[in-house]
Amino acid sequence: MEIKFIDLFSGIGGFHKAAVRALNSDKNRTVCVLASEIDEKAKEVYQYNYGIASDKIKNIREIKSSEIPDHDFLFAGFPCQTFSNAGKRLGFLDEIRGTLFFEIARILKEKKPNFFILENVKHLVNHNNGETFSVILNTIKELGYVTTEKKLVISAEKVGVPQKRERVYILGVRKELVATEYLKTPELKKVNQKEMKILENKYDERYILSDEKIIRAINAWGEFLKKIVKKDNRTLPPIWFDEMTMPKEKREKALIGIKDWRKKYLLDMWDIYDRNKEFIDKWSKIHEVDKFAKREKKFEWQAGIDNVNIEESIIQLRQSGIRCKKSDSFQTLVAIVQIPLVFDKKFHRWRYLSTKEVGKLQSFYSVDDNKKFVDYSSIKRDGTFRSDYITYKQFGNSINVEVVKQLIEHLWENYGKK
Ligand SMILES: C[S@@+](CC[C@H](N)C(=O)[O-])C[C@H]1O[C@@H](n2cnc3c(N)ncnc32)[C@H](O)[C@@H]1O
Repeated sequence: MEIKFIDLFSGIGGFHKAAVRALNSDKNRTVCVLASEIDEKAKEVYQYNYGIASDKIKNIREIKSSEIPDHDFLFAGFPCQTFSNAGKRLGFLDEIRGTLFFEIARILKEKKPNFFILENVKHLVNHNNGETFSVILNTIKELGYVTTEKKLVISAEKVGVPQKRERVYILGVRKELVATEYLKTPELKKVNQKEMKILENKYDERYILSDEKIIRAINAWGEFLKKIVKKDNRTLPPIWFDEMTMPKEKREKALIGIKDWRKKYLLDMWDIYDRNKEFIDKWSKIHEVDKFAKREKKFEWQAGIDNVNIEESIIQLRQSGIRCKKSDSFQTLVAIVQIPLVFDKKFHRWRYLSTKEVGKLQSFYSVDDNKKFVDYSSIKRDGTFRSDYITYKQFGNSINVEVVKQLIEHLWENYGKK
């Protein structure tokens, strides 16, 4: 049997991968009958990996419903927009006209696929005081679909992937296929932990951190972290070197008229300074901390009270400072620009997460998947770091394939199999 799907806002095809993994079997063949996207670079990746010519992948606004082949599943990770007309009670389709969600709704109305999965940032749930989400749910209901009772906010950690990435998913099944008022709540399982090993032993040299200034700053803060004595074994507060070392006589004035949280922050920092003055003065001289760039003077340790080894953390170089997180969970890849740094113990150096590793955080590579994914940097390899930014961004915009695979399986097992 052929199971057909359409991939709207298709990006680099996270849904495509998930559908093939979830539904392909000896009996079933999964076929993408339409992909829609406007970003040329994402289309290139789509063509390369899934064989759909990029000139056939169009803007959803330009595709007539009558041109869309029949399909079983509709997938869409759509951009979040405000429904400014909502509330006029013209019928939901009229209220949302002009938005990208409207494009999904009109296809559901005309084509009536049996299943759909929509994905969005968690914030969609509270967007515009919850109005956006309720317009979406009401529209879906009006179009004859049943969805889950509870809002499904799922992090990739739920399937065992070490990435905190919360997304909202809306599952829909045509009401004729469902005997109950709501769909069963999907229960996600953790997958093979071998696949969850994100860091690769081999990586290209371009991922090695080579900026001497940053390396010096990281080493200095690493030493600071090890030597500093904290109050009652508390965790280290965020440190900004300039404020921490402010002359004592200026402190009182600095506290006037500021918010409580900021007061606490300054007092905590000064407490650290006063307890460790001798060490900090010497340390800052040796490392010439006063000459660091602004962001390198700021240090945020969020990798645990017990851990005092910077090499056991993941570093995010933010505009606002050097932030260290625990090494067992990566932050959400949001169209990632601050690519995390990890420490390579074998060669004793810091390096950026490779594009392959970022793809692993989105479960694009799996031992069960015989169609290997080729990312943008690999298609466009020009030996520089330039194309990597596009790949990081594309993975960051995508979905976690494993989470969506399990959601598709849930729909198919419960409402699809005859
Ligand atoms: C959040 S991303 C979805 C990524 C996708 N789920 C994946 O697996 O890579 C949203 C995508 O919608 C695309 N988009 C925005 N407006 C569009 C339109 N009018 N028609 C088709 N795609 C559009 C953007 O270029 C972007 O790649």
